[in-house]
Amino acid sequence: MNQAFEKHHGRNSPDQRALWMPFTPNRATLADPMRLVGADGAYYTGEDGRKKFDGVSGLWCCNAGHNHPHIVETVTRQLRELDYAPNFLYGHPGAFDFAARLAALAPGDLNHVFFTNSGSEATDTALKIALAYHQAKGDGKRTMLVGRERAFHGVGFGGISVGGMVANRRAFGNLLPRVAHLRHTYLPEQNRFCAGEAEHGVELADDLQRIVDLHGGDTIAAVIVEPMAGSTGILPPPRGYLARLREICDRHSILLIFDEVITAFGRLGHTFAAERFGVQPDMICFAKGVSSGVVPLGGVMIRSGIYDAFMQGPDYMIELFHGYTYSGHPLAMAAGSAAMDVYEQEGLFQRGLELEPVFAEHIMSLKDHTGVTDVRCIGLAGAIDLAPDPAAPTTRGRKAFLSAYHDQDLVIRYTADTLVFAPPLVSTEAELAALFEKVGTVLRALSK
Ligand SMILES: Cc1ncc(COP(=O)(O)O)c(C=O)c1O
Repeated sequence: MNQAFEKHHGRNSPDQRALWMPFTPNRATLADPMRLVGADGAYYTGEDGRKKFDGVSGLWCCNAGHNHPHIVETVTRQLRELDYAPNFLYGHPGAFDFAARLAALAPGDLNHVFFTNSGSEATDTALKIALAYHQAKGDGKRTMLVGRERAFHGVGFGGISVGGMVANRRAFGNLLPRVAHLRHTYLPEQNRFCAGEAEHGVELADDLQRIVDLHGGDTIAAVIVEPMAGSTGILPPPRGYLARLREICDRHSILLIFDEVITAFGRLGHTFAAERFGVQPDMICFAKGVSSGVVPLGGVMIRSGIYDAFMQGPDYMIELFHGYTYSGHPLAMAAGSAAMDVYEQEGLFQRGLELEPVFAEHIMSLKDHTGVTDVRCIGLAGAIDLAPDPAAPTTRGRKAFLSAYHDQDLVIRYTADTLVFAPPLVSTEAELAALFEKVGTVLRALSK
């Protein structure tokens, strides 16, 4: 045991290193623990006994706030009634009902849902459905998948192959063959300090045409993009970019998949960001906010034409060899349907839209702080870029993150030297003002 570890945990406590924490500097975190032990509404309680404003909705997921009584009660009731039922061959009413509810909420003819447990499984599922769809239509030479630089589509081999975060790919070998990447849409020289869609960069969608020209449009199965790239620091799309991607996909019969794991369920003020941008994708991956983070849940919305292509041949045959033991788990269905009740009854997506200008005003007010190189936001999602310390990149982001927790009682996120914010949709205007006032204090301390 190292000394810092002993100081916090004592010699006789169970070895905390038994837990290998995901996407975390494990040793530094054990030396300076920030464990969360309770939550209510827009606040966590830390192990230090202090209330911490949740500036990032858990991990982009607790959109309805924490421990919402209706969600807690619904899940508890479900647990007493039916703990588990296989969705292979049997199914249970909760899964059918919740799928129908999501289909009614989704734009256009996204009328079918394949449930997963996470966003990573949702993106891999969508990619597999795209490949299998073309096969089912007798168009099996469409095997190429197109992603984008700076994208995050989870951590499965499919997701990291089409994803564009270098660190997530480097250690894992060759990944999927036949993948191409669009350029990312971050143009700091032209779009710095932008609230809402970026003014410049629509022409970056033409990268897809270049990939078509190089590889042949009839070899490409699907394009997957996040309508707003979240995990690489909130990159709102250039105005018109998604519509242009749609046009090029249509010209070449390429499927367009939106990864809305972050952007769905109110983060951008709508059930799905596809509605906000007025673009109809062929599939939408979702997770996180669908259950307000209470029970792991993800899935893919699928257009009727795709579903129908599978529902052919003898009806005793399995149409898609894919699924998870916990697809459509009763507790997840209960959490999802209760979360939808809360979103609807409390008008939380509309509330997100109303809070958007308030959020934008407060986060943008920090743009002149020393060391801030860019601020971006859209919906209730925003990022502040800090100039990295050239000798130790990422340490400024981490320092700000630690100070936000310990000195300002804030739970936020950092990715490299970017601070990221995504407060719950139940936040008040006063809480948003306080959040960014405290962040301002952190930034001032950082620049000393
Ligand atoms: C756009 C996007 N896709 C996929 C994922 C992966 O989701 P999960 O961590 O639930 O597997 C994330 C997670 O942040 C995400 O932001």
